[in-house]
Amino acid sequence: WVLMVTAQTPTNIAVIKYWGKRDETLILPVNDSISVTLDPEHLCTTTTVSVSPAFDQDRMWLNGKEISLSGGRFQSCLREIRSRATDVHDKEKGIKITKKDWEKLNVHIASYNNFPTAAGLASSAAGFACLVFALAKLMNANEDHSQLSAIARRGSGSACRSLYGGFVKWIMGKDEKGTDSLAVQLADEKHWDELVIVIAVVSSQQKETSSTTGMRDTVETSLLLQHRAKEVVPKRILKMEEAIKNHDFASFAQLACTDSNQFHAVCLDTCPPIFYMNDTSHRIISLVEKWNRAAGTPQVAYTFDAGPNAVLIARNRETAALLVQKLLFCFPPKSDADLNSFVLGDKSI
Ligand code: DP6
Repeated sequence: WVLMVTAQTPTNIAVIKYWGKRDETLILPVNDSISVTLDPEHLCTTTTVSVSPAFDQDRMWLNGKEISLSGGRFQSCLREIRSRATDVHDKEKGIKITKKDWEKLNVHIASYNNFPTAAGLASSAAGFACLVFALAKLMNANEDHSQLSAIARRGSGSACRSLYGGFVKWIMGKDEKGTDSLAVQLADEKHWDELVIVIAVVSSQQKETSSTTGMRDTVETSLLLQHRAKEVVPKRILKMEEAIKNHDFASFAQLACTDSNQFHAVCLDTCPPIFYMNDTSHRIISLVEKWNRAAGTPQVAYTFDAGPNAVLIARNRETAALLVQKLLFCFPPKSDADLNSFVLGDKSI
């Protein structure tokens, strides 16, 4: 027999960034962060997990290609869910698995991203969140979403925020073991549904410095990070929570843009400096800044993760349509292939 479960999880985009760990093994951050989860039909991961007495080892395939499960992060997630497994009884199939059986049974995992992995868009967030959620369903681990988020955190920090839709806060927590470092939902997906997220793919190349290595170097060398984590982010988190609660786009945009810029300033303050944005990213920032100033009140917010691609949040659908027009006019894709994969060119503006 084979028993399987399929789950789908969208990725999330941080508007107050997580950058820096106080514990690398447990993946505990130096500050709280806030994100917005995308709609599942756009950037998401679909994962099927299956179990059978015929499987002789745990195995995983990503986009159809087998990948190694030896990494500590996969193992932590698997171990944590296995230790919470309970009895499963599938009457239709006549399958009974006891808590004890789960220790001996192996799983097969098949995971697909519905967006090009090469585009350098956060895939680990959706990936680990989906893996943990699907395993928990398969093994009947009756944990709530926040408890599962703490397990997904062990796979990739930002993954803990993808267990919920809408606006999500990852509370850094105080406990050394990380039991209180988990995600909570601030507002559900219906709360502020006028917002439209446009992702401008500036480069389809893989990033040079991974988030994990980048943030390790930052923690070791940047004084600015300490100031950010202790003095800046705690106040910004409170303001961002207020802005979200009140649908206050002006404050939301100002906080998101400033936080993205400070995250990249912290990267520059790292030794050796990390450059995630490129000229096109900088030109997109100028375009948005000029537009917002000319309009008298923010129309669009921008935020950049560990790469040059711009995540643009428009206040409503009309603004989003105008934004896409402006982007395609200012950055016409260089080739048909680029146009098909929505990669922008870099004509000056
Ligand atoms: C810039 O979650 O990818 O996207 O915990 O080492 O796996 P690890 O890092 P990861 O870092 C994400 C960093 C970021 C900001 C954010 O999502 O908050």
